[in-house]
Amino acid sequence: MIDFSTQYLGLKLKGPIVVSSTPLSESLDNIRRMEDSGASAVVLTSLFEEQLALEARTLDEDLARGTESFAESLDYLPDLKDYRMTQDVYLDHLRHARAAVAIPILASLNGATTGGWVKFAKEMEEAGASAIELNTYALATDRSQTSADLESQLLELVSSVCHSVKVPVAVKLSQSFTSVPNLVGRLEDAGARGVVLFNRFYQPDFDIETLEVRPTLHFSTPSELLPRLHWAAILYGHLNIDLAVSGGVHSAEDVLKAVMAGAGITMMASALHIHGIEHIGRVLADLRYWLEKHECSSLWEMRGCLSRRSVPDTSPFDRGNYIKTLSSYSLRQKQAAF
Ligand SMILES: Cc1cc2nc3c(=O)[nH]c(=O)nc-3n(C[C@H](O)[C@H](O)[C@H](O)COP(=O)(O)O)c2cc1C
Repeated sequence: MIDFSTQYLGLKLKGPIVVSSTPLSESLDNIRRMEDSGASAVVLTSLFEEQLALEARTLDEDLARGTESFAESLDYLPDLKDYRMTQDVYLDHLRHARAAVAIPILASLNGATTGGWVKFAKEMEEAGASAIELNTYALATDRSQTSADLESQLLELVSSVCHSVKVPVAVKLSQSFTSVPNLVGRLEDAGARGVVLFNRFYQPDFDIETLEVRPTLHFSTPSELLPRLHWAAILYGHLNIDLAVSGGVHSAEDVLKAVMAGAGITMMASALHIHGIEHIGRVLADLRYWLEKHECSSLWEMRGCLSRRSVPDTSPFDRGNYIKTLSSYSLRQKQAAF
């Protein structure tokens, strides 16, 4: 019997696959199916800073109707109906989800700056969230903003959320920070118990006929796993913070790779949209098969075996891999040409 049980953010989990934040978890029936298929926890879809700010302003506006002072300030925010769930609906859904399944339910807050909206983490905790996942997505579009400014803003936000709740907080990080180990160390100091590697961005596409910039969403492919493996392998064993890999986890092989890099947990969204929720069960069966074939009694004995600190030659994680990959490609090209 293979042992899949583990701990993430201090929570006891029955296995390595957590369902990451996606609208699939907006249905209680789906959450039950996730548990039945073997998911060890579910992260609910996010509530957004903009949405919480907008709801607060709309409430104020209702209270102060007639002052006409709020309409202009609302202009830059999306319409409330564009959001999937209002905050009250979200909290109700969280309570019902907690009652419907035995696995932990994590709530997700999504924002970039510290502000009054952060207090919503407390309400999520009170509604039964086992942990908070804080998705931080700040974009520098202004020349005066430095990387150091963005990092300070992030750390202030994380510290503010961590101080407002007792449940553990995981930070879902953007991939585009320069010194990930330094930043993750400071996130740990700010109170984060885990980091999710990484957030996936949805850059807009250009329509060259209508000259429009429009939102696009493509599901991930396993090739997106590689930068996650790289950073998990570099971070593993150096910090006292849990590592989750999200992005490009589609198969048992992907789960194994993430664990071998050092992940304590893996997350799935796109694979479930593509193959259905029951895909989790198939991946767990494939994992079991692989581990039995390799005579492993626990998945976790593989953890970190391909991390930077475990391999004899660390050059694949440094510039060595870059140089080797490029030079081997040009050699192949030359052979093909002759
Ligand atoms: C349709 C869809 C909606 C998503 N909504 C959220 C969200 O509200 N909050 C969040 O943190 N991530 C959200 N994500 C990102 C996923 O949680 C996940 O991190 C990302 O898709 C990478 O994992 P994957 O390769 O398994 O899809 C969403 C992803 C998809 C496909």
